[in-house]
Amino acid sequence: MTDHTATPRTFSASVPLQGRIAIPGDKSISHRSLMLSALAVGTSRVTGLLEGHDVLATAAAMRAMGATIERRESGEWVIDGVGVGGLLQPREALDMGNSGTSTRLLMGLVASHPITATFVGDASLSGRPMGRVIDPLSQMGADIAASPGGRLPLMVRGLAPAIPLSYRLPMASAQVKSAVLLAGLNTPGITEVIEPVPTRDHSERMLRGFGAELTVDTDGEGTRHIRIRGEAELQPQTIVVPGDPSSAAFFIVAALVVPGSDVTIANVGLNPTRAGLVEVLQAMGGDIELLDAREVGGEPVADLRVRHSSLSGIDVDPAVAPSMIDEFPILFVAAALAAGRTVTTGLDELRVKESDRLSVMAAGLQAIGVEVEESEDGLVIHGSGGDPLPGGATIAGHLDHRICMSFAVAGLVSKAPVTIDDIAPVATSFPNFEALLESLRR
Ligand code: S3P
Repeated sequence: MTDHTATPRTFSASVPLQGRIAIPGDKSISHRSLMLSALAVGTSRVTGLLEGHDVLATAAAMRAMGATIERRESGEWVIDGVGVGGLLQPREALDMGNSGTSTRLLMGLVASHPITATFVGDASLSGRPMGRVIDPLSQMGADIAASPGGRLPLMVRGLAPAIPLSYRLPMASAQVKSAVLLAGLNTPGITEVIEPVPTRDHSERMLRGFGAELTVDTDGEGTRHIRIRGEAELQPQTIVVPGDPSSAAFFIVAALVVPGSDVTIANVGLNPTRAGLVEVLQAMGGDIELLDAREVGGEPVADLRVRHSSLSGIDVDPAVAPSMIDEFPILFVAAALAAGRTVTTGLDELRVKESDRLSVMAAGLQAIGVEVEESEDGLVIHGSGGDPLPGGATIAGHLDHRICMSFAVAGLVSKAPVTIDDIAPVATSFPNFEALLESLRR
């Protein structure tokens, strides 16, 4: 990704947030929609696709490997796939921008195709560990040359036919699970992922939806055994992408903490493997009402009505972490406004996201006057009991969209304005974040 000029943005104490918004499509489902459609035989149609930079990086990569991907004026995306096994050698390096999901899932696809691809990305992505996918994909026969520390830039030389694998996940990661399952798509026989801690299950649902033979068995210990039969033929699909709960999260918390707010957020995906934040905020006393619960594209969805609430700090059960792994930055902001102490543990994975989200959030919250203690795997936050935060600082966003949006929300409840050093990363996952916020402030 080319360098850009930093765009600082300042957020100040807000009038009540009121109205109804619809949030953009789910990022995880959008990536998978493009990848699986590009591997189907025939034409797939996708509506509600998230048009953020991360997903556009996946689209560009699938095009570079032979798929035809077009956006119609109506907003519908039309994809002609190459068939499993049919990916072509890309002519240039695949630019993954800021996107860990694109990188890890596409490494899985390339690993079992007879092609070689180089993956490059921005400074944030180039600092993130890829060893977690290099290990299983190498066991399947891919030849991977990475930069020191198992990082980008790296080159994957795929092997076809690849060697089927039974792989026990050493960390709770849907990206690693998905990389192995996607490599398994073009591998003869059965590829198995053993998942002791359940993570988002969009890959399983969608692979099945596209016609792959995939089974999930849960053993006596609650460990999931996911098996996919390779050399699958995927059937083209028509997909409606539900709204992203991880994007909704910023408006849920904003409505809870800005006095006088009453906001309805339409079309929020509530897959149980993603819905932990709503549960935790309700346990803190958040007034969040689920309206018109329904199914969109095979996923549970509802509209959420959220009203300003007096929150109380709690001890967050580490077992819910995987179902809200991307929501901790904004939960920390909610905790900063709660009465009493919020304790989080078991969050070591937050250190290897787009930034080290434990240390970056701790530093930022301290800079705006919140009392925070950082441990190895969590934060303890002492809340204001609903009083505005002191604010009055410039926050380093570290090229991390969720850090930027979390401190934007913090600015809405701060006495002195909060400036984000560069707002541009927000466009990776939520291009109309600021426009939606403005629409609620009238
Ligand atoms: C994602 C999985 C999660 C999440 C990321 C999207 C996915 O990452 O943080 O934003 O789409 O599979 P991990 O697999 O690293 O937990």
